[in-house]
Amino acid sequence: MSNIEILVGSTLGATEYVAEATQPFIEEAGFTTKIHFTPNIDDLDLASEQLWLICVSTHGAGDYPDNFKVFAEQLSELDVQQLSNLRFGIVGIGDSNYDTFCFAAKKLDLLLSEKGANRIGDLFTIDVVSSPIPEDAVTDWIPTWIEDLKKLTN
Ligand SMILES: Cc1cc2nc3c(=O)[nH]c(=O)nc-3n(C[C@H](O)[C@H](O)[C@H](O)COP(=O)(O)O)c2cc1C
Repeated sequence: MSNIEILVGSTLGATEYVAEATQPFIEEAGFTTKIHFTPNIDDLDLASEQLWLICVSTHGAGDYPDNFKVFAEQLSELDVQQLSNLRFGIVGIGDSNYDTFCFAAKKLDLLLSEKGANRIGDLFTIDVVSSPIPEDAVTDWIPTWIEDLKKLTN
């Protein structure tokens, strides 16, 4: 059974709820999950096949949440192709009143690609202006992502 590492970047807590809302759907589809509220590269086995679902909000002016900054720095220090065992999905949470809407998710997506990782499905963004309950938006989207995931893992 494949495991999905759910990695959370959140300052105020909304993204933690988003990440937790995905868990029953992923587990119902036959995967196990492990949720990381303070992601760290040392807790992930990059030498093995990896499946990650990253849920990350944006803070500051397009910055990563505080709990995610060390992890992003660790990822940036990896060699090119060091994440070639990784396939990932990514959910960005942000506010469209900012010019830097979901910028953390977008820059992370680029960073992971640069390191050789492959994204499953589209980068999904949740705008808290039009989706005041972001968990509802993610639970509408996650079945599609799981379908894409299953095509690759079956
Ligand atoms: C100080 C501050 C700065 C923010 N900066 C951005 C930003 O640059 N881009 C964006 O899309 N959203 C921005 N947001 C909106 C947050 O991403 C949004 O409120 C999100 O729901 C926070 O998720 P969290 O509770 O998991 O931290 C900002 C929010 C705050 C409070």
